[in-house]
Amino acid sequence: MAPQPDRVLIFDTTLRDGEQSPGCSMTRPEKLRVARALAELGVDVIEAGFPAASKGDWESVQAVAREVPGPIIAGLARCNREDIELAARALADAPRRRVHVFLATSAIHRQYKLNMAQEEILRTAVAGVKLARELCEDVEFSPEDASRTELEFLAQVVEAAIEAGASTVNIPDTVGYTVPDEFAELFRYLRKNVRGIDRIRLSVHCHDDLGMAVANSLTAVVAGARQVECTINGIGERAGNCSLEEVVMALKTRSAFFNVTTGIQTNRLYPTSRLVSSITGMTVPRNKAVVGENAFAHEAGIHQHGVLRHHSTYEILRPEDVGLSRSNLVLGKHSGRHAFRDRVKALGFELDEAELNRVFEEFKALADKKKELFDGDIEALVLRAEGTASGPWSLTSLDTMAASNAPATAMVQLRHTDGRTVERKASGDGPVDAAFKAIETATGISVMLRKFEIRGVTEGEDAQGEAVVYVEYNQRSYRGSSVSTNIVESSTKAFLEVINRIELAQAGTRSREERSGAGRAAQATV
Ligand code: KIV
Ligand code: ZN
Repeated sequence: MAPQPDRVLIFDTTLRDGEQSPGCSMTRPEKLRVARALAELGVDVIEAGFPAASKGDWESVQAVAREVPGPIIAGLARCNREDIELAARALADAPRRRVHVFLATSAIHRQYKLNMAQEEILRTAVAGVKLARELCEDVEFSPEDASRTELEFLAQVVEAAIEAGASTVNIPDTVGYTVPDEFAELFRYLRKNVRGIDRIRLSVHCHDDLGMAVANSLTAVVAGARQVECTINGIGERAGNCSLEEVVMALKTRSAFFNVTTGIQTNRLYPTSRLVSSITGMTVPRNKAVVGENAFAHEAGIHQHGVLRHHSTYEILRPEDVGLSRSNLVLGKHSGRHAFRDRVKALGFELDEAELNRVFEEFKALADKKKELFDGDIEALVLRAEGTASGPWSLTSLDTMAASNAPATAMVQLRHTDGRTVERKASGDGPVDAAFKAIETATGISVMLRKFEIRGVTEGEDAQGEAVVYVEYNQRSYRGSSVSTNIVESSTKAFLEVINRIELAQAGTRSREERSGAGRAAQATV
C-alpha cells in the first residue's frame, strides 16, 4: 500500500498579521465572525491576535478562545514575561490553545531594533519559550527575520528553542526577501544541522513584498515544512502575507507533485474570502488567483470554445471546488422565502432561521427599490447582515440638496448610544462632502480623508453602490463601508462607520492607558 500523504497544517493569521494591514482593523464582533468562518473552513490553527498590543486585542483573543471551538487558538507574544502571561491568560478558556513567541534574530534587527548581541538573543529566546511552556503545553517559536539571519546562528537559536520546549518552530520571511531556491536550501540546512528538529513541526510564514509569498511557502513544504502560515485574501503587513486560498488550492490541484493534504473544505474558500473582504474593506482584485471575479471568466473565443467542449482545456480548477456557484437566476419582489433560502445556500452562506428571516426582510425592502436582485446583491445583504456600521453613532435622518450653481448642503441627525440626538447642517463640494462635514461637526471628530471609492455591487442602472471610505486620524488609518441603492446614503453610512471605529478605538486606548500606565519597552526580557 502506498504511504499516506503527510498532512500540512493550515495556520491562519488573518486576525493577527492580516489585521495589522493599514485600514484592516476589525471590531471584536467582526473578529468573532471571521474566526467562526475560519473554523468552518477547516483551518487547524487560528492566530486570534496579539494580546499585549491593546486591551481590545486581549479581549478579542479571549472571546475567540471562549467562543470558537475546533481549531487551536493561538496568541502572539514577544519574549517577555508580561506579553507571555497576557497571552496565556487570554487563551486560558480555549479547549486547544497555543502561545506563539517570537524574537528577531537577524543582524539588522539585532543591531538596530533590539540592540542585543547573539548570546542575549539566545538567552531571551530560551527564557521566553520556557516561560510559555510553563503556562501552555503547546508553544510555537518564531525567529523573526529568519530568512536574513546567518544560517549557523539561526540553527543555534532553533535548536535552543526546541530544547527549551517549543513544539512548532516557524521560519518567517518577515520582509518578503527570500526566493524559492534559497528558501528551500535554508529549510534543508536546518533539517540537516539542528538536533531534535525531527521531534517538532516545522512551519513557514512568508510575506509578499516581491510577490513570492505563495511560491516561497510551497517550496518550504517541498523542503519539509508541515505548517503554512497564511491569511485570507493574502492580507497583511505591507504587500501582505501568503494567501491561504492560493497555497491551499496549489497543494490540492498539484497533490501528485506535493504529496500532502490539508484539512481545508475548499468549497468554503470563496464565501470566506468575500466575508473578509467585506469586513476589512480590502477589495479582492478582479484577476486574483482562485477567488478573483475573473478567475473563472473566459473572454477569448478560442478559450470559450475549448471550455464548452471540455472544461479541462482551459480550467485547472472548477468554480464549485472553491465554493463559487453563480447562476443567472434573478430574484425579485415576488420571490418567496424558499427561493431566497436556496440561493443563500448555493452562495455558500449558512444562516440560522433568525438571521435568514432578518436578511429576508431586507431582501424584500431592497426588492421594492430594485427590479431584479442578482447574486452580488444577495451576497452584500448577507455579508452586511450584522451591520458592521454598528457602533456608538447611528444615522436617523439624512437630507441633502445639490444644485449646479450653489454649494450642496446636508442635514444629518445622529443618535448616540448614550442617549444624545444631534442634528447638524453643513455645506460642501457636493452632497457627500457636505454630509461628511455635518457628521464631523455633530460628532466632534475631524479626520483626514485619504480615499473614497464607490463601486456597483452588480450591473444595471439600479445597481446597489458600495461606498468605501479611508481616513487618517491620530496617525492611524481607519476604513468604513456601506451598501445602498442610494450612493449618498451608502457614502454617509460608510463615513459614520469610520467615526464609530475611531470612537471605539479611543475608548480602547483610554482603558489601556489606565491599565498599563506609561508606554511599554519594545522588548523587555523575561
Ligand atoms: O512576519 C513575521 O516575522 C511575523 C512573526 C511574528 C511570525 O509575523
Ligand atoms: Zn508576518
